[in-house]
Amino acid sequence: MAIFQITRKIFFFLSFTYFWRGLVEAQILKQSCINEVCSAKRVTISNPPINLWDANVITAFNEFMVSLQDQNETKVVVFDSDNSDFWASSLDINLFTQRGIPGRNGTALIDTYFTNLDLLLSTPVIFIGEINGRAWGAGDEHLLRMDMRFAGPEAQFGAPEAAIGVIHVGGLQQLVKLIGSGRAAEYLLAAAQVSASEAARVGWVNSIHPTTNALRKHVNDIAARIALFPIETLRATKASIAEQAPPRAAFENDVARFNQLAALPQVAANVGTVLQVSKNESKAFEDNLNNNIVEKLYQVPN
Ligand SMILES: *[C@@H]1O[C@H](CO)[C@@H](O)[C@H](O)[C@H]1NC(C)=O
Ligand SMILES: *[C@@H]1O[C@H](CO)[C@@H](O)[C@H](O)[C@H]1NC(C)=O
Ligand SMILES: *[C@@H]1O[C@H](CO)[C@@H](O)[C@H](O)[C@H]1NC(C)=O
Repeated sequence: MAIFQITRKIFFFLSFTYFWRGLVEAQILKQSCINEVCSAKRVTISNPPINLWDANVITAFNEFMVSLQDQNETKVVVFDSDNSDFWASSLDINLFTQRGIPGRNGTALIDTYFTNLDLLLSTPVIFIGEINGRAWGAGDEHLLRMDMRFAGPEAQFGAPEAAIGVIHVGGLQQLVKLIGSGRAAEYLLAAAQVSASEAARVGWVNSIHPTTNALRKHVNDIAARIALFPIETLRATKASIAEQAPPRAAFENDVARFNQLAALPQVAANVGTVLQVSKNESKAFEDNLNNNIVEKLYQVPN
């Protein structure tokens, strides 16, 4: 009887832990179905106030990507945001400080971050980005590795990395393929902020839609239509397109370049200054992230 009660307590504890973890993840990545059989789903990023790509987002995103391996139910996933100002902001640069993220292993988190970027290309599911709001840094790196992107009028794109002293790993080479080397060089080297209409004009996104509702309808329609077709065909099409993607070695080279740059004293100093002047990644600073970094680090008026 006593053993039975202890076992019950352990089971209660375990199920409570799973319930709690599930709840935390459900809050960060909220899932819903687009079609009746749920072969097309929507995943809504929710990490207020700015959808900072922090340790919790990295972990939740990884668990979701892992859940898509070895399964035959999910054909299409749309990533959107419940924050009208941000699709997703940059990586939490506290990860690059001496202090790191209390209670978390920073090296392991960065490894997981890169694994997630890799999984977006290699997972046999069609990924669609639905963006209305800002997609800076980490947000844009994830978007650029999805199969397609659609924007609303408030979308903005930008890679702030050059201003800090690093590179837009995982997004850089994808952007070159999408918009050409000249334009990619311009936007990346200048850490530009790019509007939705300009992004649509150059091909950073597939198209721009005039309202949130029009964007949602377009994306739901295309996701549901793709999900009608045989899963083998979708996978073969994605695999064939991926053969034209930059090779995996190019991604690994960029990870090595990023790590070398991130180890430079100047980059560490820039990270410290940005954390200070941004008041630890405040919304007011991140709203205009690239321009604010340039203004504060280089004393150039914004
Ligand atoms: C998915 O389908 C493939 C082939 O159609 C099959 O070999 C595999 O076992 C299936 N996987 C699951 C998890 O059902
Ligand atoms: C942190 O993670 C790295 C990479 O996974 C691992 O090699 C290292 O041992 C971990 N450090 C601690 C303190 O757990
Ligand atoms: C900065 O904000 C993060 C949450 O985004 C928090 O975990 C961390 O403790 C803050 N750091 C400082 C120095 O206030």
